[in-house]
Amino acid sequence: MAAINPVVDLAMDGDIAILSVNHPPVNALSQQVRAGLLDGIRRAIGDAAVRAIVLICDGKTFIAGADITEFGKPPVAPSLAEVEDALEGSPRPVIAAIHGTALGGGLEVALCCHYRVAVPSARCGLPEVNLGLLPGAGGTQRLPRIVGVEQALDMVTSGKHVDAKAAHAAGLIDELVAEGDLRGGAIGFARRVVAEGRPLRRVRDLDDKVAAARGKPEIFEAFRKANAKKFRGFLAPEYNIRTIEAAVDKPFDEGLAIERKLFIELMQGTQSAAQRYVFFAERQVWKIPDVPDDTPAIPIRKVGVIGAGTMGGGIAMNFANIGMPVTIVETKQDALDRGLGVVRKNYERSTKSGRLTMAGVEQRMQLLTGTLALEQLADCDLVIEAVFENMDIKREVFGKLDRIVKPGAILATNTSALDINQIATAVQRPDAVIGLHFFSPANVMRLVEVVRAQHTSKPVIATSMQLARKLGKIAALVGVCPGFVGNRILYARSQQASAMLMEGAMPWDIDQAIYDFGLPMGPFAMSDLAGLDIGWSAEKSKSSIREVLCEQNRRGQKTGAGFYDYDEQRNPRPSPVTEKIVKDFAARSGQPQRTISQQEILERCLYAQINEGAKILEEKIAIRPSDIDIVWINGYGWPVYRGGPMFYADTVGLHEVVARLEDYGPRLGKDFAISPLLRQMAADGKRFQDLK
Ligand code: 3HC
Ligand code: NAI
Repeated sequence: MAAINPVVDLAMDGDIAILSVNHPPVNALSQQVRAGLLDGIRRAIGDAAVRAIVLICDGKTFIAGADITEFGKPPVAPSLAEVEDALEGSPRPVIAAIHGTALGGGLEVALCCHYRVAVPSARCGLPEVNLGLLPGAGGTQRLPRIVGVEQALDMVTSGKHVDAKAAHAAGLIDELVAEGDLRGGAIGFARRVVAEGRPLRRVRDLDDKVAAARGKPEIFEAFRKANAKKFRGFLAPEYNIRTIEAAVDKPFDEGLAIERKLFIELMQGTQSAAQRYVFFAERQVWKIPDVPDDTPAIPIRKVGVIGAGTMGGGIAMNFANIGMPVTIVETKQDALDRGLGVVRKNYERSTKSGRLTMAGVEQRMQLLTGTLALEQLADCDLVIEAVFENMDIKREVFGKLDRIVKPGAILATNTSALDINQIATAVQRPDAVIGLHFFSPANVMRLVEVVRAQHTSKPVIATSMQLARKLGKIAALVGVCPGFVGNRILYARSQQASAMLMEGAMPWDIDQAIYDFGLPMGPFAMSDLAGLDIGWSAEKSKSSIREVLCEQNRRGQKTGAGFYDYDEQRNPRPSPVTEKIVKDFAARSGQPQRTISQQEILERCLYAQINEGAKILEEKIAIRPSDIDIVWINGYGWPVYRGGPMFYADTVGLHEVVARLEDYGPRLGKDFAISPLLRQMAADGKRFQDLK
């Protein structure tokens, strides 16, 4: 075997050249890989003894794409296009041998080979859209020439991975080979290609699949329309669609030029910068400086959930989904029956969309055991408390758990705002206590805030993070403070939104501004969805708009009215009743009324969030700014193409954020204070991304 360079080798198996890449962790197409491949292919072609070339990778995967860490930096030769031209132009057949994932630039390289073989567990995809990009190395022009326009549109705009079997059926993979013997299978295939004198099949020369869509712009219009909601605000899906249109309407090289131009445009834009940042943020978030990867974890085999209400049921579903038995404790049989009934209904709903079979529903339901006896939790490895949000009740529950549950188990609370340090004083083992703050609906929302209390042990933290990953969630480790990271920042926004109601804005004005910015809904629509009566009781005074709305039985979507009026399908419309209530309150507040611009709405809401985020960093409640962004993207629907509030602040400029907050001055409220950290960073010309 001859080393071309430290990451690429060239070897011979008889008359077949084996060009292999060994560049952990994912064989990304870094400069060294590109250079090695180019050199290797040239050497192989230059060797008269070589009859065919197999391109294969070591480690856990085929090439998983371009090296994202090189993006935004000056390009270094050779370009990926040069490598691809060398492969595609080879006078001897080149066969890509795929295992793991052939993604992005990896699949594009494979598409420049004349044939592709794969093991059944392999997957292929063009996930660039998730980085705010499009496949920029010919993928948009070659893929539709093999799989057809409809599947190509779906793949480039969703970024989803296609398994080898489906890829084989679509013609993307020419042959499936035995799972354990990719190399042997690929060499065997190569020998057959040579023996049969098969042609050099260049994907760029194929036309029938794209010709089938030629002169049919309605295909693209229908696709845009069907996905309008999903693509709202994102640039990349539309750009991807345009490249597929080009593949249909233009000759190959012209299509390639269009792809290049659009790729560069996206690469230089803020959306892709944000989405690339989020890609790394999603991986950073698992890393906890003082809890190393080798921290011993506690084996979790059986889980207890206390409370079968809105959260308890959803939390239990997560565990049943991964095959873990869960014991659910309630105080009354009817509450237990109701809770388990809701779980069953939720599962059954998934059968309608085909995500679950009825057998799958039964299998999951069998893992759930309801009981009224807390003692049943004695042998659980993890207990999650999801009872009413009340400190006395929670402390009582924890005190009992302490006496019942076996030593070494994790005692978690799903509280959304209570002081977990105080909850932990109810037990003799505060090191076992942690917050696992799931978001509603808990079986759907991806975020879990893992809340580290004063005495929480490292194994408890490590286990909680690993468990969240197993559940398919994304977890951010945060510290104890009112509302933790997510709700604390939400509260900062709510304060501004409520203040603006007193100054002349209507709930729908504020919601519209936030929606147009890219969030799924504004603060008032969100309150209507959650229910305005959380924490409200009829005996309470009518000191807020929310309380008056509740008083009038306008408790949100569930009662058909809240800040908005709702029709049967729960479509909101501005409500004259709410308008009157707001105006009465505003008049009583004595504040002068004015028209509030969309710009002011956005700046006050979003900059107040950024300011709160800075305070959270000051207080070390979050480990890093990008963790805050992960919380807001996954827990509250902050648009990923804006990278989260802290990344967004960087794009605005911290100096500008501070200057605008200063301009708004007293309007922000008497308790509003600009974070010293934010002020200092602005003065120093720094960005949150510079805080490592
Ligand atoms: N470039 C640079 N680093 C990458 C990378 C890439 N394309 N893909 C993954 N990595 C890094 C990760 O940051 C991580 O680093 P860390 O260990 O320091 O945190 C490490 O590789 C392992 O990644 P994961 O933790 O994600 O490993 P998994 O095994 O869970 O997943 C994967 C593997 C499915 C390949 C996943 O990493 C992935 O989806 N990668 C991105 C694939 C992608 O988007 N490719 C397209 C790139 S853009 C492109 O190709 C442009 C072209 O069209 C010109
Ligand atoms: P819920 O009112 O829907 O459910 C609470 C359930 O706990 C009820 O069924 C009740 O009968 C049961 N319960 C009360 N005391 C109990 C006890 N001693 N033993 C066993 N069961 C008992 O409340 P929800 O919304 O599920 O909230 C639960 C917790 O989750 C609260 O701490 C809340 O702050 C938190 N949370 C709620 C979110 C939401 O959106 N609803 C989001 C995130 C956290």
